[in-house]
Amino acid sequence: MYKIPAETLFLGKNLVFVPECHSTNTLLSEMSAKSDLPEGTLVIADHQTAGRGQRGNQWVAQPGQNFTFSFLLKPKALAASLQFQLNMALSLGVLGYLQQKQLGRLRIKWPNDILVGDKKICGLLIENTLRGIFIDRSVVGIGLNVNQTDFALNSATSLALELNRPSVLPGELPLLLQQLEARLLEHHRGCLSQQKEEYLQHLYGYQQARTFVAGHGKFTGSIVGVSHEGRLQVEANGQLRHYGVQEIAFA
Ligand code: BTN
Repeated sequence: MYKIPAETLFLGKNLVFVPECHSTNTLLSEMSAKSDLPEGTLVIADHQTAGRGQRGNQWVAQPGQNFTFSFLLKPKALAASLQFQLNMALSLGVLGYLQQKQLGRLRIKWPNDILVGDKKICGLLIENTLRGIFIDRSVVGIGLNVNQTDFALNSATSLALELNRPSVLPGELPLLLQQLEARLLEHHRGCLSQQKEEYLQHLYGYQQARTFVAGHGKFTGSIVGVSHEGRLQVEANGQLRHYGVQEIAFA
């Protein structure tokens, strides 16, 4: 089963395995509201019966085949308005893990899906609890498709499909956590512009003409950046527009 990783400083040092739960994000939020858990506490499940995704979507994964876990962060003095910095650092962490597996065509789809080509392999759900203008704690949920090979959606993929071989989940967890922690420590050291540059380098659709859907309808534009607050910056008809997560989607 899952072992406490020797390779990390804080991530996963307090590791809780549950065979089944509704959602590891929900479970960890409840646990951290009840007691003062150490930073990096990680809850991992073989099966979620009500896995949650971004924008109120469900996250469905076959039991025992994939990574479905959540961990606790206590960002020190990170303003709530700058929470997107965490999204960038963590997306780069997952990307780094997949790069180590020699996967090509890796992209980050804003805000924090990881794609191989046009297919999604991983999604992150980061839920913050605020104290005044600062983030008090973050629950970071990661759903990474590892050994599942059949999906209801044609737009999903997994490590097994990309590498043509299965992976041993307990063996892979420390490798993934190491990459995530390295990016968190880098963020903590203040490597913000470097992380943003890397994020943009891997951003799906960056500086390419694409069709989007927003409240004002369908339009063609090009992603030119992401603001400090994490809003997607899209140029269309010579105008720069900013969109929040619920406000725009690729058509
Ligand atoms: C998305 O792409 O929409 C985000 C998916 C996040 C799924 C993970 S699985 C572990 C954690 N627990 C949840 O209920 N959701 C996240």
